[in-house]
Amino acid sequence: MVALSDVSKWYHGQSRIFERVNFEMKKGDFLYLVGGTGAGKSSLLRMIATEEAPTSGQISLFGYSLSSVSGSTLRAIRQSIGYIPQGIRLIPDLTVFDNVALSLSLSGERVLSASSKAKISDLLNRLGLESKREKLAVTLSGGEAQRVAVARALVRSPELIIADEPTGSQDRDYTWSLMDLFLKANVGGAAVILATHDREIVRRVRKKCAVLKKGHVTLEEAACIY
Ligand SMILES: Nc1ncnc2c1ncn2[C@@H]1O[C@H](COP(=O)(O)OP(=O)(O)OP(=O)(O)O)[C@@H](O)[C@H]1O
Ligand SMILES: [Mg+2]
Repeated sequence: MVALSDVSKWYHGQSRIFERVNFEMKKGDFLYLVGGTGAGKSSLLRMIATEEAPTSGQISLFGYSLSSVSGSTLRAIRQSIGYIPQGIRLIPDLTVFDNVALSLSLSGERVLSASSKAKISDLLNRLGLESKREKLAVTLSGGEAQRVAVARALVRSPELIIADEPTGSQDRDYTWSLMDLFLKANVGGAAVILATHDREIVRRVRKKCAVLKKGHVTLEEAACIY
């Protein structure tokens, strides 16, 4: 589902962030991405989310090499991805509900069906946002905005979830509400890659991890020790 082959990345005038990174994820995998601040977690996730190209090497998603896909295939690939960026990027002058609904209209649903509206309401309820649904995104706290960004990514039931420190602004209760949603999506067949600094999550929910250090990624097949 995700394959990186000899991926290197550096930004203009800087030293390499990645040096020939190789790894694969299969359907239904759940993988933590761990590494110190500045190790390159967000850069790696941006590349997998098709937002940035590697400087050299290949990334394939769903069997398509990103360097040679057509525009329409790339759009289809993006619709199968739920990406939660570290910088949350809601649309500030839309309501909470409309920020989530927009994710569905961008994937082709022009008039929201009753079941889609129910799905949005369910996600907002699970994430303690029911009283905020008609509030403009600009008025939310950082943690609330982060939960809306998760709802927006999950509402389309993506096959691949790319989550960049999605619990970084949450208290313990909401951290576990969010983890519960990621784990349910994973049980439903979605592959999940989740960058985190939260050792408690990694210790309590035992999964594999990719460790990012000095430009290299090591995949630990056993449960992550972090
Ligand atoms: N657009 C950019 N231009 C130049 N350098 C960049 C750019 N984006 C990231 N970097 C550099 O790449 C390195 C990795 O950054 P990245 O944000 O991927 O780290 P991270 O592991 O996500 O860190 P954190 O845990 O703090 O979120 C850093 O040294 C950063 O300064
Ligand atoms: Mg980051």
